[in-house]
Amino acid sequence: MRLLVTGGAGFIGSNFVHQTVRERPEVEVTVLDALTYAGDRASLAPVADRVRLVEGDVADAELVDRLVADADVVVHFAAESHNDNSLSNPWPFVQTNVVGTYTLLEAVRRHERRYHHISTDEVYGDLELDDPAKFTPETPYNPSSPYSSTKAASDLLVRAWVRSFGVQATISNCSNNYGPYQHVEKFIPRQITNVIDGVRPKLYGTGENVRDWIHVEDHNSAVWAIVDRGRIGETYLIGADGEMNNKDVVELILELMGQPADAYDHVNDRPGHDMRYAIDATRLRDELGWEPRYRGFRDGLAATIDWYRANEAWWRPQKDATEAKYAQLGR
Ligand SMILES: NC(=O)c1ccc[n+]([C@@H]2O[C@H](COP(=O)([O-])OP(=O)(O)OC[C@H]3O[C@@H](n4cnc5c(N)ncnc54)[C@H](O)[C@@H]3O)[C@@H](O)[C@H]2O)c1
Repeated sequence: MRLLVTGGAGFIGSNFVHQTVRERPEVEVTVLDALTYAGDRASLAPVADRVRLVEGDVADAELVDRLVADADVVVHFAAESHNDNSLSNPWPFVQTNVVGTYTLLEAVRRHERRYHHISTDEVYGDLELDDPAKFTPETPYNPSSPYSSTKAASDLLVRAWVRSFGVQATISNCSNNYGPYQHVEKFIPRQITNVIDGVRPKLYGTGENVRDWIHVEDHNSAVWAIVDRGRIGETYLIGADGEMNNKDVVELILELMGQPADAYDHVNDRPGHDMRYAIDATRLRDELGWEPRYRGFRDGLAATIDWYRANEAWWRPQKDATEAKYAQLGR
């Protein structure tokens, strides 16, 4: 199989490439990545001799056409992915997430290739804290931020290209990921690297917001299950029943890193901050037989802390610029 992975130098994409090289040696992997601030060649260094990395934009129609023609399967991770950035400058989100997806869809349509679209549970908006409901594939789209609305738009393009043009596509909407190679702007790595630096973690607002955490390797094993056995045109929700509020996450990080549980500061909240996400992954489990490997958030988080401690050379170059951006936002 010739596999084209967009965004393969980012957090989830690079983990997907590592896992693929490890578990499926017969797959020929090409990565298309613009190497934005969020993409890092170093994330692919351990597999550099097994992977072709093409530096380029998913909205570059000519380049995308050539790469898709040479692939059997396309898995599309590339995106602008950070909510805070989408509030200060939404345009790159429209360009990459919407126009980029359109460009890929036109290419897979022309060349009749199998396409898998990576998306987020944030397209569904949020749930109340006291609501027993979870997101299902039938939940109406109700995105809150420029990030989630551009992801929602891209999902709808995929659905339309399946229905109108017969494109062979599947979609997955996953909950919040954690694990190695995640940019230090994101919640968990930011807190871990702050503690390593002797800086108190920062909690947005009261910290009651609930996220449904999944280890990145579990997300990626689900993506492979969908590519292998998913029904064309179908949407699969990926989650591992990992609901926890942000305050508890910060306290757990502090505990695992040997600090007092209250050694953090509250900072002003993100405007429009979603309250709760929760995934019902029944379809994925029942239809495709997928199960997560990481059973406990605590163990996965401890392993992630170890990874950031052991790989300072990977994250250190991003840290100062990231904190300078947060300082401007007062967060
Ligand atoms: N991180 C999460 O918790 C999470 C959860 C659910 C879904 N997702 C989705 O998974 C995907 C990957 O997320 P991530 O957290 O790894 O993001 P990330 O920001 O770490 O990585 C994104 C990658 O895409 C690349 N990229 C950005 N614009 C590009 C362009 N125009 N052309 C080519 N490459 C470009 C970047 O260089 C980077 O390597 C996204 O589609 C995101 O919406 C993320």
